[in-house]
Amino acid sequence: MHINPCLFILARPPHQVVWNYERHTQFELELRYSTRLAQLIQDPSTFDINYPIDADLLDAEILIKEARTPTKWEWDELSRIFHIGTKNIPCADIPQDVNEWAALYLQHCNEVLASPMPSARISNPQADRIALARPLLTDLQDASLIQTLVGRSTSRSFRDQPISIEQVSTLLYLSLGYLNERRDIHGAAGPESLGARRSSPSGGGLNACEGYLYVRDVTGLAPGLYAYLPDEHALSLTASLPEAPLGRLLCGQHFINPLPLGLFITSRFDKLWWKYAHSRAYRMAFVETGHVSQTFLMVATALGLDTWLTGALSDREVERLLGLEDSCEQPLFFVGCGHGDGQVHCKELTALIERQDAVS
Ligand SMILES: Cc1cc2nc3c(=O)[nH]c(=O)nc-3n(C[C@H](O)[C@H](O)[C@H](O)COP(=O)(O)O)c2cc1C
Repeated sequence: MHINPCLFILARPPHQVVWNYERHTQFELELRYSTRLAQLIQDPSTFDINYPIDADLLDAEILIKEARTPTKWEWDELSRIFHIGTKNIPCADIPQDVNEWAALYLQHCNEVLASPMPSARISNPQADRIALARPLLTDLQDASLIQTLVGRSTSRSFRDQPISIEQVSTLLYLSLGYLNERRDIHGAAGPESLGARRSSPSGGGLNACEGYLYVRDVTGLAPGLYAYLPDEHALSLTASLPEAPLGRLLCGQHFINPLPLGLFITSRFDKLWWKYAHSRAYRMAFVETGHVSQTFLMVATALGLDTWLTGALSDREVERLLGLEDSCEQPLFFVGCGHGDGQVHCKELTALIERQDAVS
């Protein structure tokens, strides 16, 4: 007899919960079950089919008869649990045709809409709004899609040169703003607040991503951290610029300290929970963030700016700065842009590489 390799055990007083993350089954164990399971984990050969607890554990597939060769997985257990645990989600009602799909989808939407909708914002910005001028987009007129796709690259060498508030307005409107151009396109029945559309797609149309602007050097905008309000195309000051350089917030990537402008992209988990009550939706939070990130990088490139991106956030510091500690809105990614020489590496790393090459 063998212990199923796809289990984890949660301590949920007064019980232990055994979770089979492959089969998506969970069992709350009474003490006599958890004690017996501990014995079997230590020595599976003591299994006795005539012992009712052992038979129950076998029945529940906590124990298995055949040993299983573990699937190849080179990350840690946590990533494995998450990936496998959000795969092959059991779907009791798989629609058999489009009519059935439509009826089930509408029923799901109605059930969701019957529960209270998450608030528009987690943090209610107290500071005065700074309305951004509606971007004219003339500066993008000559940028072709092909040029922009081919021109985007990650730069790690920026110089102290400001960007303009007009560029900030264009960047925000086109990556996170609720587009005026799409205001009247409201297909499905539902509250108006769910009708807002961005240039990037959004899981369930929920616009779970939010943005917080890091402003170090923008003409027309004081340095600081600003919440972006996509419905008003406005900013609201959230915090003053920390004394520590940007690299401290981004896991020590100090080559980025001269960056004039950045954007922390967050995800409103509560919005996703509201419509998608399964951990698989956590995948979508990152997918949506990636869409917004790419759009930002494309717009910045089209504006003639160099771009950079990272997922390496010093989470606690960033959350504190944005006022999102222990909140269901979490920072996931950072994108930035400015003027530089477009180099892949900063000059300090380039010098080290050259010295290393000269020695070898
Ligand atoms: C999800 C993701 C995370 C990244 N994280 C970092 C990072 O922490 N630091 C960094 O300098 N670049 C980061 N990059 C940029 C990549 O290193 C870069 O995209 C890659 O080297 C390809 O180069 P290119 O962007 O110029 O095409 C990241 C890119 C992606 C998509």
